Amino acid sequence: MKKLVVACSNSVELAKKIAKQINAEYLKLDADHFPDGESHIRFRKDIANKEIIFVQSMFPAPNDAMIEVIFATNTAYELGARNLTLVAPYLAYMRQDKRFYSGECQSNRIMARLLTCVDRIITVDPHLHRIDSLSKIFKIKAVKLSANFAIAEYIYRNFDNEIILGPDAESYQWAETIAKHIDVKALVLKKHRYTSRSVRIKLKTTEKLKGKNIVIVDDIISTGGTMIQAVRQAKKYRPKGIYCICVHGLYLENAYKKIKKAGARRIISTNTIENMTSKIDVSKLISKNLK
Ligand code: R5P
Repeated sequence: MKKLVVACSNSVELAKKIAKQINAEYLKLDADHFPDGESHIRFRKDIANKEIIFVQSMFPAPNDAMIEVIFATNTAYELGARNLTLVAPYLAYMRQDKRFYSGECQSNRIMARLLTCVDRIITVDPHLHRIDSLSKIFKIKAVKLSANFAIAEYIYRNFDNEIILGPDAESYQWAETIAKHIDVKALVLKKHRYTSRSVRIKLKTTEKLKGKNIVIVDDIISTGGTMIQAVRQAKKYRPKGIYCICVHGLYLENAYKKIKKAGARRIISTNTIENMTSKIDVSKLISKNLK
């Protein structure tokens, strides 16, 4: 069966790269809105009997992005396409992984239930904190890839005399793996989160940070609160430079500017979400898995 890569609205460039790397046909999904805001999608190609790989990051506009994918995958199935894969480089709703307050919705489980018209889902560094595996929420095959090595390679090529900093306990999975890969030290800090916008981080170490390049790594930069606090703490140790790297750069509420203002020399992300900081390419990582 011939493979077809379908680019959904949020991942056009990444989908093009993937199609080229796996030598598949490429199609941009027609996606727009009716005047009342309802989503409308259309395939401008015969897709019957095709094996389809949809590429859609769930940011920006996660709700629209999700509906677009649900409509596209269900329609593809109705039109006779088979072996459907969804590549969702950034998977939204993963942070709401428990009922933090009574009566709340545990979104990760419900989101997983809504994405069942595909045979498998592939994602990059999903936010797995309170659950350790995607199989706990997905009934379909769910593959978790990690951008760790791509990030480590980037750091190796672009920095010297560096130390890796993880801003909170959960970030050890990135900080320690990356540091080990390039044979440098990692420090993992403790964070206390008060609200979705307010966190406190403390850095107390005997490690000599003066004159070093501190590279702070995390999975997501959302409002930037975590990175801002980590940068401020790192600054006290008078390093040579402070850099922030994340897998998924959302940069909400002026986060990019605020982190720079706090003292970060540069902010870098992968292209799971396409934006001006996407310097680390994950297309090869994904393509390798699709082959
Ligand atoms: C939290 O556990 C995550 O790993 C990130 O640290 C967090 O999502 C970042 O959010 P924000 O940029 O809003 O602090």
